[in-house]
Amino acid sequence: MRPYDVILKKRRGEELSRDEITFFVDGFTRGDIPDYQMAAWCMAVFFQGMSARETRDLTIAMARSGDVVDLSAIRGIKVDKHSTGGVGDKTTLVLAPLVAAAGVPVAKMSGRGLGHTGGTLDKLESIPGFRVDLPKDVFVRNVNSIGIAVVGQTAAVAPADKKLYALRDVTATVDSMPLIASSVCSKKLACGADAIVFDVKVGSGAFMKSEEDALALARLMVEIVEGAGRRAAAVVSDMNQPLGRAVGNALEVSEAIDTLRGSGPPDLVELCLSLGSLMLVLGGAAPDADQARETLIGLLGKGAALAKFAEFVAAQGGDASVAERPEILPHASHTAPVPSPGAGYVTAVNAEQVGVAAMILGAGRRVKDEPVDPAAGLVVAKKIGDRVAVGEPLATLHTNNPASIDEASRLVASAYTLSQSASSPPRLIKQVIGAW
Ligand code: URA
Repeated sequence: MRPYDVILKKRRGEELSRDEITFFVDGFTRGDIPDYQMAAWCMAVFFQGMSARETRDLTIAMARSGDVVDLSAIRGIKVDKHSTGGVGDKTTLVLAPLVAAAGVPVAKMSGRGLGHTGGTLDKLESIPGFRVDLPKDVFVRNVNSIGIAVVGQTAAVAPADKKLYALRDVTATVDSMPLIASSVCSKKLACGADAIVFDVKVGSGAFMKSEEDALALARLMVEIVEGAGRRAAAVVSDMNQPLGRAVGNALEVSEAIDTLRGSGPPDLVELCLSLGSLMLVLGGAAPDADQARETLIGLLGKGAALAKFAEFVAAQGGDASVAERPEILPHASHTAPVPSPGAGYVTAVNAEQVGVAAMILGAGRRVKDEPVDPAAGLVVAKKIGDRVAVGEPLATLHTNNPASIDEASRLVASAYTLSQSASSPPRLIKQVIGAW
């Protein structure tokens, strides 16, 4: 088999066999197939697409390109959750202890943020002392004893995806449905969960700009995971404005703690209940989504989810008093309001622009491996549907780098669209795709 022939076949829009796909992925992972041939192939996939069968074969080939984690030493049905990336998306910080408190084991491998979207590991590391590099035996022991552990995904998991994603990022081939689906699902399958719940974001801050595309991606990922013999469900959720109000690592941890205390922002609470219900059903802890929701509301109300969060933080070396005293989280030396340049009702908040502003303030990375400032970020004061007067704050910026304030402030102000007539907030949960 020659790489050239596989590229040509895809460029002509023909369906590749499993052997051709595996040959291409394995050759690329080993370094036998050079970047320029893989880049040409990705562009051919971008324009010609892939069938569901091809996408499944690509996923399996990438999942098997490195370590496949064996979680069989952990008791119970392990349910993972994956978000396709959003701004202010701290759902994992709430969901992991909430679902664990309901008796579903959470054995999670998470990633770091890049660009305008944040990563769970960076958020957790803003808690003083918190460690995400647990050895495998401690990871397993923690899940078996307290029901929860979150660690960094190692470089040995799905190395084909790591290499391919870096190439896609510089060849304008990230936003291809089969390439996104296979990238996400290969990592999740290699991390060993029995069931996966996907949160597919749609809107200005997401890869998927239309609801139709987001729904197609959600369906495709559920189909791939089910085809690989695991269970799956998905939610398509709105990302036309930041989720909740906080954007930035410690600020998001603080908002997640408020939510675990039962006083979180309504959109964040709703998304956590929707995703958490699916996790409980797939994990066998509730017969249906309605009963699962009741259970989760009860756990939030009783303080059980917050107590589980404190246990989780302590088990990973962090200062568990953060659950009662979020003020111990790092604080920025400078805060600044972003005054509204006009008056009216908020009709849109460009989430990507808000995410970029948080990155400029120090909360995110422009390039891989750059350190992040745990205290940096922003808190939005106005969301879609809110009324705003001239000069009233749209958001408050937090930074240790005062030189970044002007640029971030301009970006946040221009992220807002105001109109003279009120518009209602977008529907948060667009679709739920269940496997029952
Ligand atoms: N997230 C991923 O892990 N991969 C993609 O291709 C896009 C989003």
